[in-house]
Amino acid sequence: MGEIFVSVLVFFLTLLWYISLKKNKKEAIKNGTKLPPGSLGWPYIGETLQLYSQDPESFFATKQKRYGEIFKTHILGCPCVMLASPEAARFVLMTQAHLFKPTYPKSKELLIGPSALFFHQGDYHCRLRKLVQNSLSLDAIRTLVPDIDSVTASALDSWANSVLISTFHEMKKISFEVGILTIFGHLEATYKEELKNNYSILDAGYNSFPTNIPGTPYKKALSARKRLSKILGDIIHERREKRLGKKDLLGSLLNSIDDEGEVKISDAQIADNIIGVLFAAQDTTASVMTWIVKYLHDQPKLLQSVKEEQEEIKKINCENNQELNWVQTRNMPMSYKVILESLRMASIISFTFREAVADVEYKGYLIPKGWKVMPLFRNIHHSPEYFPNPHNFDPSRFEVARKPNTFMPFGSGVHACPGNELAKLEMLIMIHHLVTKFRWELVGTQNRVQHSPFPVPLQGLPARFWKIGH
Ligand code: HEM
Repeated sequence: MGEIFVSVLVFFLTLLWYISLKKNKKEAIKNGTKLPPGSLGWPYIGETLQLYSQDPESFFATKQKRYGEIFKTHILGCPCVMLASPEAARFVLMTQAHLFKPTYPKSKELLIGPSALFFHQGDYHCRLRKLVQNSLSLDAIRTLVPDIDSVTASALDSWANSVLISTFHEMKKISFEVGILTIFGHLEATYKEELKNNYSILDAGYNSFPTNIPGTPYKKALSARKRLSKILGDIIHERREKRLGKKDLLGSLLNSIDDEGEVKISDAQIADNIIGVLFAAQDTTASVMTWIVKYLHDQPKLLQSVKEEQEEIKKINCENNQELNWVQTRNMPMSYKVILESLRMASIISFTFREAVADVEYKGYLIPKGWKVMPLFRNIHHSPEYFPNPHNFDPSRFEVARKPNTFMPFGSGVHACPGNELAKLEMLIMIHHLVTKFRWELVGTQNRVQHSPFPVPLQGLPARFWKIGH
């Protein structure tokens, strides 16, 4: 019985494979162009199993070695074209961006909220982006320095008793607090607590299997998302009543009116964008900060020079009885290069997803309408052509200007990260407190990586911290 079932299954899979080969051949000769080289694997499953059975870095690197800088594959139910050259990334994200729309699985869109700006193109995206960008501009974030400084200092102080912590987990607390500050300024403690509790349930369900079965992480996340809408609705209502006119992200979204003086953005759209920004800000920044702790630990000489730079600033601040300030954060060249090199080495956003909205021809290859298109940032950042000895952690490589489109940790084009300056500011402040006040030891297997979904050291880099001099 079992054998018959297996034979029938094999027969059907082979048939589907044959049909898909035929279909690809047809597509391959459309407009006289051919599909990029590569394999689409098995029907439906494609090469998803290969992707998940090895780490994504080796999956993409092996393909690039075999097929070159443009190749096709089939993962997570979608045919995809992967692009691993700076010119191709520029083509998709900048010069021909209108031919490629952002694309996310529906299940994820539902959790964040369908009106979040990164799901959109065109007028709506442009309008929202201006508002988000305003609240993340240099002028806006410089006012946040004292608050980010005190959030970071007290978070780090709480680790300093040699208790074993997960660095990533603790960094997430810092990046969440900074996200809240950017969005709401000072927020009432009860609101903050409610947002934190529900957001953490949403976060836990984000990478789980999407199902409506009660009790599953995804279903719990959907319920938490509903509660978040309610809390945000209350905060929005209270802000409107009080007419506070604050300049944070919520203020900027609430005060947005069109040429006729009408309110432009609904409360539901505001809520989706608040969750969207929290989502975009938290794990990304926390992952890079975790890698910084590891890279500095692994390179004592480098740590020493970062320390010297930061001790100098601390000394001035102690003498003048003042706290770290904005101007000082703009003058930390060594620490800044460590951040850039960490962004390159860790490449926590390994690639991004777009979908071709029409048949597109690139360098004689056809990218069929509806196919996913993925510029592979990590492959570019780890290419010896643009970064000699790419696996060496060497901040000095950022002393010279990079070739265009070879360094894109924050993406590129109309969807490039509006939070990049805030993220770097947060990291500089974290480095200042870390190296001037602490020594630390890493615990366990430090060279393995987990994808959650961004690459972070296994178990979030377990570590112990001690206050210097204690
Ligand atoms: C190290 C930390 C961060 C990294 C590496 C990072 C990286 C990125 C990348 C690569 C994109 C473009 C994605 C694409 O083209 O599909 C992006 C978009 C975005 N990021 Fe960040 N990000 C970071 C921190 C932040 C922070 C702190 C915020 C806000 C406070 C933020 C808000 C956003 C938003 C709103 C978008 C969508 C922009 C749009 O679609 O127009 N990010 N980020």
